[in-house]
Amino acid sequence: MIYSLENYLAHFYAMIQIKGSGFCLREWLLSDEASLIRYADNPKVSQFLSDRFAYPYTAEYAQQWLNHQTQKTVIDNLVIDIDGELVGGIGIEFRQDIFRKTALLGYWLGEPFWGKGIMTEVVRLMVDYSFENFDLARIQAGVFDSNPASMRVLEKAGFIKEGIAKKALYKFGQFSDEHIYALTR
Ligand SMILES: CC(C)(COP(=O)(O)OP(=O)(O)OC[C@H]1O[C@@H](n2cnc3c(N)ncnc32)[C@H](O)[C@@H]1OP(=O)(O)O)[C@@H](O)C(=O)NCCC(=O)NCCS
Repeated sequence: MIYSLENYLAHFYAMIQIKGSGFCLREWLLSDEASLIRYADNPKVSQFLSDRFAYPYTAEYAQQWLNHQTQKTVIDNLVIDIDGELVGGIGIEFRQDIFRKTALLGYWLGEPFWGKGIMTEVVRLMVDYSFENFDLARIQAGVFDSNPASMRVLEKAGFIKEGIAKKALYKFGQFSDEHIYALTR
């Protein structure tokens, strides 16, 4: 909890900020709520994400997510910010046990910003951030077979397709194959 302007500024300036071309990656803020709902509440965005990324994307869900992200001490999830506004997100999830040197990558971008090369650069920056800051040997991403744009993003960012896991995904009452991509350190 931030109690004073001094504490707030100290927190703000300590925040992670990674500069890209026309955007930056930064930590989540409670004030991201309105933009988060604006861009996340879109079935074209959630259709290729896990069910944890709810649709409809309600204010209650946004608040839960923001409370969780803003209390984290390990920053594994970043906002894609254009001109001070959240337009998307990217994060890694650490696997456990014998898989603990692998992290799973997930990302999304608001529909008005698609097709401008943003996510390809975001993925590259997130990979660099993840290998620099965490003890990881491998970053892995799983893509719905009906999502060629995301496969292209990963390929452009240097990921290799390792295989296709048949019927691995079940969303909206339908099975999909999962295309497994990975990048090793
Ligand atoms: C997938 C997503 C992240 C792409 O972001 P983006 O910023 O538009 O991606 P980029 O512009 O960097 O690259 C997209 C590439 O896909 C290509 N592409 C787009 N639609 C395509 C299609 N239907 N078939 C084949 N390629 C396609 C583009 O032409 C571009 O490749 P190019 O540079 O070689 O021309 C964005 O659409 C999104 O957030 N979708 C919803 C959530 C999601 O799918 N997340 C990923 C889960 S694995």
